[in-house]
Amino acid sequence: MKLVSVVGARPQFVKLAPIHKAAVAAGIEHVIVHTGQHYDPMLSDVFFADLGIDDPDVHLGVGSGSHGVQTGAMLAALDAVFDEHRPDWVLVYGDTNSTLAAALSAVKLHVPVAHLEAGLRSFNRRMPEELNRVMTDHAADLLLAPTLVAVDHLTAEGLADRTVMVGDVMTDVLFEVRDRNAGAVSSLLGELGLEAGGYYLATIHRAENTDDPVRLAEVVEGLSGLDRPVVLLAHPRLIARAAAHGIVLTSGSLVAHAPLSYPELIAAAMSSAGIVTDSGGLQKEAFLLRVSCTTVRRETEWVETVQLGWNVLADSAEEIAAAVARPRPARTDAAPYGDGNAAGRVIAELLGSADRSVAR
Ligand code: UD1
Repeated sequence: MKLVSVVGARPQFVKLAPIHKAAVAAGIEHVIVHTGQHYDPMLSDVFFADLGIDDPDVHLGVGSGSHGVQTGAMLAALDAVFDEHRPDWVLVYGDTNSTLAAALSAVKLHVPVAHLEAGLRSFNRRMPEELNRVMTDHAADLLLAPTLVAVDHLTAEGLADRTVMVGDVMTDVLFEVRDRNAGAVSSLLGELGLEAGGYYLATIHRAENTDDPVRLAEVVEGLSGLDRPVVLLAHPRLIARAAAHGIVLTSGSLVAHAPLSYPELIAAAMSSAGIVTDSGGLQKEAFLLRVSCTTVRRETEWVETVQLGWNVLADSAEEIAAAVARPRPARTDAAPYGDGNAAGRVIAELLGSADRSVAR
């Protein structure tokens, strides 16, 4: 079987790692296509190096642009790639512009498309990610859902017959890196003179928090007023928007820092007193590591983290301060994100489906 994975943005490289490992173990021909949506080394190259992913076979070098320009450039380039490789499956990941472009190009060429992390919904149609995931789910042939909640969403949209629950591949990679990291101390402690448990770790990059100056100022005010140092791992989008709006990212408790590699991020999260983020992945990683999380959004796709008490949504500066100061959540053994073996199930499903289509 020939599988083409299309990735382009940081969280997709993390999800690609366990899939690539499982594909190699199964003897599948796995072609990796990087759209170039993320091109800074700390958002791209380090993930391939640290997580043992082979270099991309194809690099489209698309780069930044408005949604239409970026998605359109990917679409134009991907047609030729899929035509050349004619894979049994194209696998698309998550909810970025790279996901939508690859799904659209492949489905129109009648190449079967599988969507990893299908069925997540925020029900906020102003988020580009929500539009990307809804359109990708409705275009794809096979919907690989990470959770029961995701399966329910797909069922409600009439997509049950294309849906398979496989678990969450981010659990696979997180458990592996956590165990490999065991005992390692975050390099942030020495570098910034911090103590374990003496700081919060923060990331902010969503368009709805960064692009409006009033909104970004409110988020920065909330973070800078917290009662311990806040290490803000600044995404290029945040740096660019803060500079454009004249907002300082080093006020009060804030300590701005470059993004971290995946193993460094996990080590920094494990040593922190809590996480404040608008990232989807980090909310879940916090839960899996049992670190308290405050999510700077009005809704989340990962509702289980909130229901289990490990994540609190906070919008205003006051809400952020109150959520961060809350007592440590109650212990839980719940495992809504699977057992760390999702990637093997994804590959088995693709192989099984590929065999079924041959038999037809
Ligand atoms: C994208 C995804 C988002 C995901 C995030 C992870 C979409 C619509 N959004 O958001 O869902 O959570 O990746 O990080 O696909 N930039 C750089 N260097 C880079 C990449 C981006 O400087 O390597 C800057 C550019 O100024 C660019 C801006 O960041 O305009 C936004 O980048 P883009 O890839 O469009 O979206 P993200 O905000 O990274």
